[in-house]
Amino acid sequence: MNETLERWGSRRAFILAVTGAAVGLGNIWRFPYVAGENGGAAFLVLYIIFVVSLGLPVMMAEILTGRAGRRSPSQSLAYLARQAGHSSHWRWLGVFGGVTVFLILSFYSVVSGWSIEYLVHAVNGSFEAASPDRVSAEFEAFLADPLRMTFNHTLFLFLTMSVVAAGVSNGLEKLNNLMMPLLYALLLILAFHATTTGGFAEAADWMFSPKWEALSVGVMLNAMGHAFFTLAVGACALMAYGAYMPDHQSLPRAVGMVAVLDITVALLSGIAIFSVVFAQGMDPAEGPGLMFITLPIAFADLPFGSLWLGMFFLLLLLATWTSSINLAEPMVAGLQGIGFRRSRATALVTVSVWLAGLLSVLSFSTLADVHWLAGRNFFELVSTIPSDVFLPLGGLLIAIFAAWVLPREVALRALDAGPNGFRLWRGVIRYISIPLMLLVLVSSLI
Ligand code: PHE
Ligand code: NA
Repeated sequence: MNETLERWGSRRAFILAVTGAAVGLGNIWRFPYVAGENGGAAFLVLYIIFVVSLGLPVMMAEILTGRAGRRSPSQSLAYLARQAGHSSHWRWLGVFGGVTVFLILSFYSVVSGWSIEYLVHAVNGSFEAASPDRVSAEFEAFLADPLRMTFNHTLFLFLTMSVVAAGVSNGLEKLNNLMMPLLYALLLILAFHATTTGGFAEAADWMFSPKWEALSVGVMLNAMGHAFFTLAVGACALMAYGAYMPDHQSLPRAVGMVAVLDITVALLSGIAIFSVVFAQGMDPAEGPGLMFITLPIAFADLPFGSLWLGMFFLLLLLATWTSSINLAEPMVAGLQGIGFRRSRATALVTVSVWLAGLLSVLSFSTLADVHWLAGRNFFELVSTIPSDVFLPLGGLLIAIFAAWVLPREVALRALDAGPNGFRLWRGVIRYISIPLMLLVLVSSLI
């Protein structure tokens, strides 16, 4: 056992940390636009099915592996595999996770930077009484300005990495404790207000009554990818947090709460956003700009709209901050594991993520039409392939590791849900999750 690792202060602190990792851009920005591009309700139903049948069991697999290993993801995998008489090549799964979080963080930081820009705009009152046309025109103008975008990306990454440099457990707890309830309350107000607007009926129909003819293998892959993305599962990022999990805490109970919270935040944000979409006659498949074009309009309707809007973007920023800290942690822990000092590791990760992020920044101007693969520019590529393919692939391997490689007693102890809970988890992951992930991944390849 590696005695140098700190533990989270309490069970509550662990749940808050995982919630912090889970709730972020995935719920408020990504869920609505991906659902919009995939036809709405059918996507939503699949996404919830995948969260329950894949996301949750694999999340447990991932965290229990970290908890059993008590090391960085790569080291935990190698160590546990060796103990069980398997090859220490399992460490490469940790490296693959590192590549995945690297790519995700590089665009995550850029989009979080958009929230900084909006926060400033809201505080300046420049969205006050803005017409829908003006909001989208301003958003377009912002995207076309690489300097402003780079500034915000730099600021956000700096904020993230300065927390990471200090070590995970310091300060995060208090931040999550304060931010989550406030964000939740604000989204509740917004969704509730949406029910009184003209677009609500159509939005609710579009979100909640599935048109199954819209279903395709592509929609399935996107729904599966989003289930992993939103729960922060499949990149060994939560494995890194599992290493700090206290003894004596039931893992299923902890992650169950996280999943409920995560789904609700996405639903509330979807209701708020799609009510505006339908009230304004916009296209639900608007793309990554969806949230940034609709929310200023939604808030403009409320008394003291700018105030609420500013508060919303502040809370969103805090939520994305705790997610990006989780994205960065496994890279830093991994580099530390191969002998880097924490400060050096942090610096190295910061510089390389920053540089990759520049390519995403430029994808909205200079590099917009430079297609790297499958007709996608850099941003389109990193905001889809790592989430929709790498996370499920990583999740599949993590599931195989936890369900077939780890000895029963080790997994049983790290799951901490009693023998029956353990049997249920292992049955689900062996005979439902693993085959289902394989099925969706393979059929989308063909
Ligand atoms: N779950 C985060 C969100 O929804 C994103 C994330 C993905 C974080 C993968 C960590 C690992 O915003
Ligand atoms: Na999420």
